[in-house]
Amino acid sequence: MTVTGGAIPSAARREQIVAELGVARARTLALLDPLAEDDLTAQHSPLMSPLVWDLAHIAHYEELWLVRALSEAGATDPRLDDVYDAFRHPRAERPTLDLLGPGDARDFAAHVRKRALDLLAEQDLAGTDPLVAEGFVYGMVLRHEHQHDETMLATIQLMAEGRHPAAGGGPGAPGRPIAAAEVAIEAGPFVMGTDTDPWAYDNERPRLVVDLPAYRIDTTPVTNEAFAAFVADGGYEEPRWWDPAGWAWRQQATLEHPLFWLAEGDEWARRRFGRIEGLPPREPVQHVCWYEADAYARWCGKRLPTEAEWEKAAAWDPRGRSALTHPMPWGDAPATAALACLLGCSDGEGRFGPDEVGAHPEGVSAWGCHDMVGGVWEWTASDFSGYPGFAAFPYREYSEVFFGTEYKVLRGGSWATHPSAISTTFRNWDLPVRRQIFAGFRCAADA
Ligand code: AVJ
Ligand code: FE
Repeated sequence: MTVTGGAIPSAARREQIVAELGVARARTLALLDPLAEDDLTAQHSPLMSPLVWDLAHIAHYEELWLVRALSEAGATDPRLDDVYDAFRHPRAERPTLDLLGPGDARDFAAHVRKRALDLLAEQDLAGTDPLVAEGFVYGMVLRHEHQHDETMLATIQLMAEGRHPAAGGGPGAPGRPIAAAEVAIEAGPFVMGTDTDPWAYDNERPRLVVDLPAYRIDTTPVTNEAFAAFVADGGYEEPRWWDPAGWAWRQQATLEHPLFWLAEGDEWARRRFGRIEGLPPREPVQHVCWYEADAYARWCGKRLPTEAEWEKAAAWDPRGRSALTHPMPWGDAPATAALACLLGCSDGEGRFGPDEVGAHPEGVSAWGCHDMVGGVWEWTASDFSGYPGFAAFPYREYSEVFFGTEYKVLRGGSWATHPSAISTTFRNWDLPVRRQIFAGFRCAADA
């Protein structure tokens, strides 16, 4: 989060909200503006919505959960409540809906944004209504827009051409040599989740004390080079490395290597936003599903970290002078290009890919783990569930309906994540078969 911790003066909070909403909208429009009308309305993969659905859904979400929640206003167009409800229509079905066209979707988004900003002036941000205290619902719609921008980037990467003028060529920022491949994390309790981040989601609360035995965790995410060794060793042909459900999926979907990898003779290439380029050995592997990550970890005698292990390694600073737990691996300061590979602060802004592992040594956690925030999302061993005492807020469909054994938790954000939408306590989730997201992993082991 850009601004964390307790209360700040309401005028400063209002200015922050206006500025951050402006940044998010500029990002959304800049992402879509270069694309042709057909690219906006077509469905590029049954896994994804047409891009124009995301655009109008961003606006509809803001109207439903912010404008209509904070005022007596009704829907601009009641028809849209059905079309843009993600629960009523799975992604595969969305192209058949009566969607707003690109021009109407942009107008709708601008109209809703104006109403949201007009309402901001009337809100008591220092009051006790949990929806408006510290601007919570504004933070919620801001982060929702950034999440959909990342989703739209995944859709663009899936497009047949996938070209985007903002996607630069060339390699990511170079990594520096790292002394140790893994670190030992000492046994003992740590504080997980947050009660202080005013824009935290319901699923990050309430915070809790978790007492973990000692464990080891890799200092970096697994690289392309390391993952290629697993492929070369026949890792995709050996059921013993795979979870039984993962092996069944590997057979059914004929997985043989990460998504977007291409064999070119003895070398690997990959497709990144329409460019075919050599596979960069020192970048973190991305576009692997949970089953592939899990199999790799078993192949090298390790396992995926639980999300508690991930968070302790990222956020807990037992010798910290100011605090024991931090919203960013390096502490409390906002992200910069030096600290993490996140969109808008990476050296290669707009490159649309991760830097090499270890390219941000100033951003290490207290334990010496690199790239815990930014680069690639990291699969964890954990199912998505509520912390003890979880209470859905402001609506059950944000997180609670996904709790159970179906979804796995991802942590840390990717190169496509905006700094305002990530922290060491943020929890993302997806099905264990999904690999169009910008996800990789790091390994852990018992001490
Ligand atoms: C947090 C990324 C799993 O995209 O499904 C978007 C976020 N919630 N719209 C998703 C979300 C409502 C969610 N993830
Ligand atoms: Fe959404």
